[in-house]
Amino acid sequence: MKYRAVKGTRDLLPPETDRFADAEATARRVFESYGYGEVRTPCLETTELFARSVGETTDIVHKEMYTFSDRKGRSLTLRPENTAGVVRAVIENGIAAGPMPLRLWYEGPQFRYERPQAGRYREFRQIGAELFGVPGPAAEVEILTMLFAFLEALGFRALTVAVNSVGTAQSREAFGKALQAYLRPRSSGFGEDDRRKLDENPLRLFDSKDPAVRAALEGSPRTLDFLDPESLRHHETVRRLLGDARLLFRDEPSLVRGLDYYTRTVFEVVSTELGAQDAILGGGRYDNLVESLGGPPLAAIGFAIGEDRLLQAAPRRSPDRALLLVLPQSPEDVDEALRLAAELRAGVRGSVEVDLLARGFRRGMARGNALFEEASARGLDREKIFAVLLGPREREGGTVTVKRLSSGDQETVPRASVAGWFEGRA
Ligand code: HAM
Repeated sequence: MKYRAVKGTRDLLPPETDRFADAEATARRVFESYGYGEVRTPCLETTELFARSVGETTDIVHKEMYTFSDRKGRSLTLRPENTAGVVRAVIENGIAAGPMPLRLWYEGPQFRYERPQAGRYREFRQIGAELFGVPGPAAEVEILTMLFAFLEALGFRALTVAVNSVGTAQSREAFGKALQAYLRPRSSGFGEDDRRKLDENPLRLFDSKDPAVRAALEGSPRTLDFLDPESLRHHETVRRLLGDARLLFRDEPSLVRGLDYYTRTVFEVVSTELGAQDAILGGGRYDNLVESLGGPPLAAIGFAIGEDRLLQAAPRRSPDRALLLVLPQSPEDVDEALRLAAELRAGVRGSVEVDLLARGFRRGMARGNALFEEASARGLDREKIFAVLLGPREREGGTVTVKRLSSGDQETVPRASVAGWFEGRA
């Protein structure tokens, strides 16, 4: 093989693509029911946008971005996440100054130069939503309620969301100083990168997987002890309202999230179905980002779900689609097979496939049996898989032969009533 997909990227093929499309359609349905409209922003943005928003000293900007110069020497980056692009877009298109609240959702590929492993790719997809213009805790309630409505629509039941508050820029700074003071005497075993974080952006040490750092962080100061009174009140109200809404959350005092733009509420959902890369989604409030990127002061909150991980952890849906294989025995039967298939498609919830090569009943049935074996992976209900045979005998009799693959039973059905025969069956 000469050409291979770039390391950390992969092809999605049927039937896996069906599951992605299904999750995306569910996201659209649920998010639209809350009044969110879809936004699509470019995969390419100026590098500066991410440095200013996600943060110069975060792992994402520091070492995971696909950054290059274009032919005119401009520094461009393949988006590592979608929030910065959405914020740029709402400012640039003037809607950040328009009616509020502003509700947007998105789906699309993101790019991070990370070490590939199960559940971690260099190109991956996110489904996300952003809500602008609501400074009060009602925003947290709407965003998290909508998120759980989506997860439940996909069949998740026992997920809980971990929540914390990182406060304002000032309280984060006070927390950062306290963290530095606590960690400096415990940092002798830190690697070079974590030592840099300790100096430049100590909150980012919470992203480290190094056991030396994890051990040093045991018993460290907590963000909640540094919150200003206003942020603390906000956090208490969020927790109370989430309880009232019967949302399953738990306090996670060490949750700070790996991006610098957060203020106050941060949250994350992990799944026990996944291995080391167990975060299905993350999000939080970012009340200063719009203004710091040149827009008006505007409160905001949102989340992004890693679609690849989501589908790895999601329960499989019970397969319910029908498959009708229309098998012309010889090339003379193909025209009639195409006409019949067009009629059947109107009434069948699933697919109607014609053997365009007219390879005969035996080979047609062999393909049918192969599909029958893979039925559940393809979302097919085994009881709804049929072969519809058209040959000289059927042509003469004005009939078709219908065979149910699960039982092998077959029946001769008058050509004129085939569509009706499948009603209630496929
Ligand atoms: P994030 O935590 O960086 O947040 O990413 C969100 C989710 O994307 C993760 O929880 C994970 O499921 C998925 N993800 C991240 N990196 C990879 C990867 N290399 N391979 C597979 N999946 C991955 C954000 O991106 C923020 N923009 C979320 C947000 C929206 N905050 C406010 N609004």
